[in-house]
Amino acid sequence: MITLRPYTGSDADALVAIYRKSVRRLGPRAYRPDQVAAWLSVAPDRTEMHRLYTDGRHAIVAVDPNGAPVGFSDLAGNGHIRFLYVDPDHVGRGVGRAMVAALLDHARTLAVVSVFSDASDLARPLFERAGFTCIARQEHRIAGIRIHNHHMSASVPCSGTP
Ligand SMILES: CC(C)(COP(=O)(O)OP(=O)(O)OC[C@H]1O[C@@H](n2cnc3c(N)ncnc32)[C@H](O)[C@@H]1OP(=O)(O)O)[C@@H](O)C(=O)NCCC(=O)NCCS
Repeated sequence: MITLRPYTGSDADALVAIYRKSVRRLGPRAYRPDQVAAWLSVAPDRTEMHRLYTDGRHAIVAVDPNGAPVGFSDLAGNGHIRFLYVDPDHVGRGVGRAMVAALLDHARTLAVVSVFSDASDLARPLFERAGFTCIARQEHRIAGIRIHNHHMSASVPCSGTP
């Protein structure tokens, strides 16, 4: 049973570890080894993770029954989802989907008209199932290595009645 809760300061190390483990183990399913290495090279350290997740964005952590983090994601006030990472030992069980659903619910409480993210090949199917549309395939260069992702967007329905 996985539950979602807000980020706390003591999560930073665990989230950085999930990010790195996830990219190392899941990245090769869609990206070449040099692209996975480039992706890892831009992993946040604990200081950056904590700075980002305490800057006012809505940051959530998925935890197992023992309280151990198994995934994380976030939503900024402008509708941007920056990270969506699940521990490879827990993928394919709906953790990512549950986090995106929770973020869309949260978006309805904010004055945002759309939610958007730059999704990997691994995350694009999940976002599409959650109602996002691919706006553009994006080519990036990280330390000279070409790597692509997908700019995805979903509109946020109005909440309440007129
Ligand atoms: C992308 C990621 C977060 C998905 O997490 P997850 O917990 O495995 O996702 P879920 O189990 O909730 O899957 C949701 C749905 O998408 C589908 N799905 C997930 N990944 C998929 C893939 N690579 N290809 C096809 N379908 C996929 C699942 O089958 C599931 O379908 P369902 O709704 O019919 O059950 C996880 O694979 C991950 O951390 N990847 C590496 C990091 C990454 O790419 N992050 C995104 C950066 S933008």
